[in-house]
Amino acid sequence: MPQPDSPSFVAGYPLRAHNTFGFDVRARFACRIEHEAQFAAAVRDPRAVGLRRLVLGGGSNLVLTGDFDGLVLLVALQGRRVIREESDAWYVEAAAGENWHAFVAWTLDHGLPGLENLALIPGTVGAAPIQNIGAYGLEMAERFASLRAVDLATGDIVEMDAAACRFGYRDSFFKQEGRDRFAIASVTFRLPKAWTPRAAYADLARQLAVQQQADAPDARAIFDAVVAVRRAKLPDPSVLGNAGSFFKNPVIDAARFAALKAREPEVVSYPQPDGSVKLAAGWLIDQCGWKGRAVGAAAVHERQALVLVNRGGATGAEVLALARAIREDVLRRFDVELEMEPVCL
Ligand code: EPU
Repeated sequence: MPQPDSPSFVAGYPLRAHNTFGFDVRARFACRIEHEAQFAAAVRDPRAVGLRRLVLGGGSNLVLTGDFDGLVLLVALQGRRVIREESDAWYVEAAAGENWHAFVAWTLDHGLPGLENLALIPGTVGAAPIQNIGAYGLEMAERFASLRAVDLATGDIVEMDAAACRFGYRDSFFKQEGRDRFAIASVTFRLPKAWTPRAAYADLARQLAVQQQADAPDARAIFDAVVAVRRAKLPDPSVLGNAGSFFKNPVIDAARFAALKAREPEVVSYPQPDGSVKLAAGWLIDQCGWKGRAVGAAAVHERQALVLVNRGGATGAEVLALARAIREDVLRRFDVELEMEPVCL
């Protein structure tokens, strides 16, 4: 018997509209989660026993290489509110199924700045902590307070702070040990009242100058500039399937960087606080001549070599074949290994 809260299961569910690459694959079962208790009820349903599970938000960081022989939990939890005000910060909570960009816009509409650098990132609020989304000089972890997650093994609801989430560069507990075990239900952000603009990132500074807002931009000006830069460089997934950056920017130690720099003086790099150096993977790939090239219907985006796109009808396997060829070239020329950013299933 299904549990009282069990959401209805749909067999052979098409996932094309649920992954931003637009891969045309199906799930054995899918169900829509509209309130927290449905997570536990769904995984206890007799039809779900022994099946793999996939908690799906916007599917914006995902490569599906074939049909998913398991249960997909489509997170549709909604709601956003200011839950607390302290002398130095507001605490804002959003349910996991809320669209990320709409949430960022909502915070600004309510006079709550702090997330504007992360405007227009595809996906949902619940997915944001999993890979610690970041862009234009800000990572989500810097505005994170806590989250509520459902332990799918026990059905328990757990509250986790930043330390428990172990955020790193495009990384967290949920991509490592916690993988496949937790479903994020809501996230609470801490937005400091002492707001200062984050506008040093080169593309952003240039766009603010174009907008004639380079001096003392407010949060709305930064939001508009980030939207403009992203629209100019990154393909809109509703037009051209993609999952944002396909590789992480690799980090190498100082000695290896010195050797690389001696051979490749133009290499784009960002020194890290611990002495290591982050390299722009887009530059490495671009230098290998990959921009605009294709393997079948999978291609490297014309304006950003770090983004792989589905020109129409590509499969996950084709995208992975393209990624493999790129990795080999970058390794051969620069002796640097690229690591995939999206989750691959
Ligand atoms: N570059 C090239 N050729 C390219 C692409 C980039 O030469 O085809 C050079 C650029 O000229 C620039 C440098 O590489 O000097 C970095 O490029 P960009 O500013 O476009 O940023 P990125 O390092 O490629 C990262 C994030 C993006 C984020 C932007 C802005 C990662 C893996 N990617 O890209 O995040 O939007 O910075 O902060 O960290 C994502 O994670 O999905 C994502 C889009």
